Amino acid sequence: MPKNWAPDSWRSKPILQVPDYPDKDKLREVEDILSGFPPLVFAGEARSLKRGLAQAAKGEAFLLQGGDCAESFREFHPDNIRDTFRVLLQMAVVLTFGAAVPIVKVGRLAGQFAKPRSAPTETIDGVELPSYRGDIINSIDFEASKREPDPSRMIRAYNQSASTLNLIRAFAQGGFADLHQVHQWNMGFVADSPLGERYKDLADRLDEALKFMAACGLSSESTPQISETDFFTSHEALLLPYEQSMTRVDSLTGDWYDTSAHLLWAGDRTRQLENAHLEFLSGIANPVASKVGPTTDPDSLIKLIDILNPENEPGRLTLISRMGAGKVADHLPQLARRVKDEGRIVVWSCDPMHGNTVKSGNGYKTRPFDLVLQEVSEFFAVHQAEGTYPGGVHFEMTGQEVTECVGGAQPITEADLSSRYHTHCDPRLNGKQALELAFAVADSLKEQRDSRRENSSGNGVQQAAGI
Ligand code: PEP
Ligand code: CO
Repeated sequence: MPKNWAPDSWRSKPILQVPDYPDKDKLREVEDILSGFPPLVFAGEARSLKRGLAQAAKGEAFLLQGGDCAESFREFHPDNIRDTFRVLLQMAVVLTFGAAVPIVKVGRLAGQFAKPRSAPTETIDGVELPSYRGDIINSIDFEASKREPDPSRMIRAYNQSASTLNLIRAFAQGGFADLHQVHQWNMGFVADSPLGERYKDLADRLDEALKFMAACGLSSESTPQISETDFFTSHEALLLPYEQSMTRVDSLTGDWYDTSAHLLWAGDRTRQLENAHLEFLSGIANPVASKVGPTTDPDSLIKLIDILNPENEPGRLTLISRMGAGKVADHLPQLARRVKDEGRIVVWSCDPMHGNTVKSGNGYKTRPFDLVLQEVSEFFAVHQAEGTYPGGVHFEMTGQEVTECVGGAQPITEADLSSRYHTHCDPRLNGKQALELAFAVADSLKEQRDSRRENSSGNGVQQAAGI
């Protein structure tokens, strides 16, 4: 923890994207109430995530982070939580097979409510109102009274996060996550997909591996790793009054932890070096992350690392690259190279969503699936060329069959967007698109693994020949 840091030291720094609550007394009252609520996550769990991320930084694990752009009160339903969790598990199984390393599973859920906005107000039919900033702050309904920031929404967001997490913990440990079951769901996906042939090889080999394991006596009953899984939560640490209220001292280590989620990140609009959001993140002992965009230069990235991970602690810091398809090669190589040259230990993760948002011809905010795929493959290519590890991926997705991103094997066209466009903020991949992406990433991971193996045996030959 830096000298002079306290859970409220961010208050003396410049701040962006945090609402100005009109009722300050009510805000203080809510902060007091939240400070007395039980933690949502525990310090020991955050440390276990940090260990997993430390492995990912060395290429010995791979981070899968995904979920809603913005959770909402309206879409809160056990079926939605179950379906998103199920797709994340399906993706994780596919990735495990491609990467041949453990997959660290982190949801953008149970707390992902607050949203940064590009403009403070929104105008519809000549009426100007404050922008919607996420259900934890105000309502999406376009009415003056509902757009006013209301502190009591933080209590509702806390309660929703607590019950979401409760269900997720039950799913993760109670048999729902059984590897055989997840594999059967994947076989169903492969059978139904127009691109099934392309995925079949990987799915069949996974099938054989599971049968082999069963023949060796490794069953759900004998091996908890088959029937249970670890799952962590994360969100953007944007609404600092909420995050501060959830920050507590861990009795075991004496360190401060933000107990609202296992991992917290700074967004692309709030990662300024002198500002409040990095100040807050610098003092909590959770694993933290920062988005890295096309405006990030190598010097400022090193300064950001100095702030967020001065001790160079493995697993502490994840850098989430979100450049946009076609721009990765212009920006990422010099960043990855500099971080490597300075010996900074980070997990490099790829968010192929936020640099690829476009407006459709019929006025919807959407993301072309092909651009999402393209950014991921550009990210892999840069790390391959730089000799650094592509340590993870970060997606906005849902288990629901929404029509928000165009493209995919069962193509969603611009004309389809209106049929099931439910997001409260950015367009998300639907379950099928998310799985398609997982198969594509698994292929890249496997290629990278094969080429690393070839390189090391190639070096061996060269060494043997005295070259
Ligand atoms: C997000 O991840 O929801 C987000 C707003 O991303 P970014 O900060 O990268 O724009
Ligand atoms: Co988003």
